[in-house]
Amino acid sequence: MAHILLTGSATLDIVNLVERYPPEDSETRAVGQRITPGGNALNASRVLAALGHRTDLCAALAEDADGDRIAATLADSGVGTDACLRMPGRTPTSYIASSLATGSRTIVHHRDLPELSARHFESLPLERFDWIHFEGRNIEETARMMAAARRRITDQPISLEVEKERPGIETLMGLADVLVFSRHFAAARGFDDATTFLCEMRPHAPHAILCCPWGEAGAWAQDHQGRACRSPAFPPERVIDTLGAGDTFNAGLIDGLASGRTLPEALEQACRLAGRKVGMEGFERLVIQAPCVG
Ligand code: FRU
Repeated sequence: MAHILLTGSATLDIVNLVERYPPEDSETRAVGQRITPGGNALNASRVLAALGHRTDLCAALAEDADGDRIAATLADSGVGTDACLRMPGRTPTSYIASSLATGSRTIVHHRDLPELSARHFESLPLERFDWIHFEGRNIEETARMMAAARRRITDQPISLEVEKERPGIETLMGLADVLVFSRHFAAARGFDDATTFLCEMRPHAPHAILCCPWGEAGAWAQDHQGRACRSPAFPPERVIDTLGAGDTFNAGLIDGLASGRTLPEALEQACRLAGRKVGMEGFERLVIQAPCVG
């Protein structure tokens, strides 16, 4: 199994399960609640650890009770936190309405904690990791981190998640070997199909693997030579909880590629894992069941 470093943000997710998404200026009683660590890289790190990889998270963790709670849950999930930076301040929070009627999740995020610095990242023993993953945020610092990783590692892959439009995000694209674009990002750029979108992104990362999951339509990818492949989606009987489905897809893809599977195999595995995730609440039971690919 691989030793994987994931860099991104750590939040506390306060997830209210509601029968249906409420109208504005209304009051709704939640039918359930869970309070759990969140953040894209953090969620993916929990899934990768559950899949058996040695996994470390590099994130800013506030020196408050919620920061302690996140660190404790990560330790219980087998995710290393030595690469995290503890700092004074408050844990970022996401208030999430998860609709049982549709499985949709609506997130209101609040952050008032300094971002992770490239200086901290550069102090890590980067040479030791088999794979380094980044969230496409905190652009200037992340560009420095990715450049440092590029300089210091030899042939270990670097992956990048491009989820939201942010000024300068293109500067990160050429520094990655594997890019995962969200459907939301493609749509915000005016694309309504993944194939055209990926061709349009190609000049930003001429030699990288490019992927784009597209919800119930499955996922599309191009290998480093531009050869295209696609996987269908594997929807559960009932969609229950889509929070972290994209993070689960990323973990499935990294797991597949880091384990030596071909791109089409890794893509299918990522779709299967994401499909299984949306059929259940949270991530805890995700990997206990049968393996994803036969
Ligand atoms: C899900 C998620 C949540 C977090 C939010 C941050 O993908 O990572 O866990 O609160 O997105 O944007």
